Amino acid sequence: MKKTLATLAGIALITLSGQVFADEASDVGKKIYDRAFGRGCGTCHDIASNPQLSALIKAGTLDRGQFEKVLQEGKGGMPKAIAEIMKNAAVVKAGYGEDQAVDALYKYLGGK
Ligand code: HEC
Repeated sequence: MKKTLATLAGIALITLSGQVFADEASDVGKKIYDRAFGRGCGTCHDIASNPQLSALIKAGTLDRGQFEKVLQEGKGGMPKAIAEIMKNAAVVKAGYGEDQAVDALYKYLGGK
C-alpha cells in the first residue's frame, strides 16, 4: 500500500513537471510572437494578405523544417528572425538554445 502511494505520488510529480515545462515553452513562444522586432510577428502576420502562420501550421502545410528555414534565411518581405528570437528576454531567461526557442514558437502557433 505504501509503495503504491509512493508510486502514485511519483507519477503525479512527473506529470506535473511535464505540464509546467509545456506551459513555460508556450509562454516563451507567445513572448517571441508578441515581441520580436519590437512589435511582434503579428504586426505583419495578423494581416490577412500575409501568411497566416497558425492556420498553415495547423493545416500541416508549414512543417517545422520549413518554418525554421524561413526564420534563418528570410523570404521575400520576411526578415531573417533567428537573431531577433535569440535575444528575446524570455528566451534568454529560459536559457533556450535555437532549437528549443523555435520549438516553443512553433508549438505556440499550434504545431507539435
Ligand atoms: C515586416 C513584416 C514581417 C514580420 C515582422 C515577420 N514576418 Fe514572417 N513573413 C512576412 C512576409 C511578407 C512573408 C511572406 C514572404 C513570401 O512568401 O515571400 C512572411 C513569411 C513567413 C514565413 C513563411 C510562411 C510560408 O508559408 O512559407 C514564416 C514561417 C514566417 N514568416 C514567420 C515569422 C515569424 C515567426 C515572425 C516573428 C519572429 C515573423 N515571421 C515576422 C512578413 C513578416
